[in-house]
Amino acid sequence: MSLKNLLTAFAIAATACCCNQQSTHPPDSEIPGRKWWKEAVVYQIYPRSFQDANGDGIGDLRGIISRLDYIRSLGIDVVWLNPIYSSPNDDNGYDISDYRNIMKDFGTMDDFDNLVSGMHRRGIKLVMDLVVNHSSDEHEWFKQSRSSRNSPYRNYYHWWNAERGKPPYRYSLFDVNHDAWRYDSGSKAYYLHYFSPKQPDLNWENPALRKEVFDIMKFWAEKGIDGFRLDAFQFVAKDTGFPQWPKGYEKNFNDYYSMGPHIHDYLKEMYKEVLSKYNVMSVAEGAGRNFADAHELVDSGRKELNMAYAFDAVDLGKPGGYSLLRFKQVFTRWDSAFAKEGWLSIFLANHDQARLVTRFGNDSPAFREISSKMLTTFILSMRGTPFYYNGDELGMTNPGFTRLEQFRDKATLNEYQHQKAIGTDMVQYLKNIEFSGRDNGRTPFQWDSSTNAGFSSGKSWIELNPDYKQINAAREENDSNSCLNYFRKMVRLRKENPVLVYGIYQLLDPANPDVYAYTRELNGKKWLVVLNFRNRVVTSNTGIDFSKARIMIDNYGHASLDGHLKPYEALLLELP
Ligand code: NOJ
Repeated sequence: MSLKNLLTAFAIAATACCCNQQSTHPPDSEIPGRKWWKEAVVYQIYPRSFQDANGDGIGDLRGIISRLDYIRSLGIDVVWLNPIYSSPNDDNGYDISDYRNIMKDFGTMDDFDNLVSGMHRRGIKLVMDLVVNHSSDEHEWFKQSRSSRNSPYRNYYHWWNAERGKPPYRYSLFDVNHDAWRYDSGSKAYYLHYFSPKQPDLNWENPALRKEVFDIMKFWAEKGIDGFRLDAFQFVAKDTGFPQWPKGYEKNFNDYYSMGPHIHDYLKEMYKEVLSKYNVMSVAEGAGRNFADAHELVDSGRKELNMAYAFDAVDLGKPGGYSLLRFKQVFTRWDSAFAKEGWLSIFLANHDQARLVTRFGNDSPAFREISSKMLTTFILSMRGTPFYYNGDELGMTNPGFTRLEQFRDKATLNEYQHQKAIGTDMVQYLKNIEFSGRDNGRTPFQWDSSTNAGFSSGKSWIELNPDYKQINAAREENDSNSCLNYFRKMVRLRKENPVLVYGIYQLLDPANPDVYAYTRELNGKKWLVVLNFRNRVVTSNTGIDFSKARIMIDNYGHASLDGHLKPYEALLLELP
């Protein structure tokens, strides 16, 4: 840590401490409902692209271990690791062939144990991906299941015997034809796959399958992990009568495929069998169809999950931009729906999305750093547990893949075939995926300006972003104004000031199309966040005179507090 950073850290700590002493309000320790997972900042690591230790061009566990001091230096509390289990990699590990083993590309169980102990020694918790809507078709369960209609594993999956005719249509997200039923000639039946044909859906109605899953969770919890991220969990429960969906709704994934019958029974059982027995956090990918669903997943009295993340906000980022008004509405509506009960996660990017700064900020050389810091200020000053994606702390950008050969993601490649088959303008399709394809967030982490950005000594499994000579951790480490050091300061600010975690959120200046402004208020402290989402000077009308406010952080380092905001300016102020 540079001297300047150290001094800033002391200044922030001193501010927090002196304000606590003056307050006539209850101390922060008496905040009701405090939980470690609410106060945590979660940093997501995409293992395939983080650090390669053995030179095969693929990131691995030993690579992550070698970077633990960097991870610790970020100040984050929790790492969420994408799947590292054995997998034929049809969907980069989201197709698991053995839930109790480590993928060969990533290393061994010894490496895993070393990773956990190395994290715990540094005070970092580990959350693992739990992918149990589907397995790989190369999992022993599926091999057995498809071997015969009489197999004891037959009912681990959803089968529809061919003599019943074709099953009612189900949409598949990753299938080339978007048909979720695949015919298996061996046992003359169709099996269900909401994702790719190599990801058959598991049958949660079968208690034997549920027991298998709970045993797997216990296996990892016993190894000392600290939580689970439940992949695609809202889709596990199905109406296994497979009724015909009404005409026009056959592809309505949100309303017709999610939150099926018994989902809450399954979660309560999971809570009773596993989650309640360990000090682990749980977060679901997807928050159901509406606020009521989301509450039913996460409200504490229900004994199901701790939190869920919704897609409404992240889905707004489209080629050509997005409406800030809509963006503000989405976050504000979710916050008010959870103001009294329940807890959410806040995120704008992950391994399924394009890069944060390209999508929601501005990745041109003039504005990349400043807009990236503004977005970091936003994510870390909202109520809800922040999930922050690796590389975004450097302000990494989309790589600008323009040729099909540059893409690796099966979902993207299958969709390409589909679009071609239905006569889409493929030039336009390539433009779309250049902006929003999942591979944008999957290029190797940019450690330094050496060959392959210090990611690997071998040929990387996916091309690097050519901008790594300018944008990399080594360079940012030495610059106290870098995105990286701004991220660290912002994490520290959140950790040291519960107002940023628990404080009541209130939107200000709602009709302002350029500025996102809100307050956070707790125990007599009121903080104001003002964010300019535009590449020009704009004015904010918060109705609050903040000329005498104390600047807790600002992304230019020389804020003027006169109501005018410089391009992508971010101010975080404590009001007198
Ligand atoms: C959501 C994961 O984030 C994504 O990467 C994966 O392809 C699907 N679930 C299927 O597991």
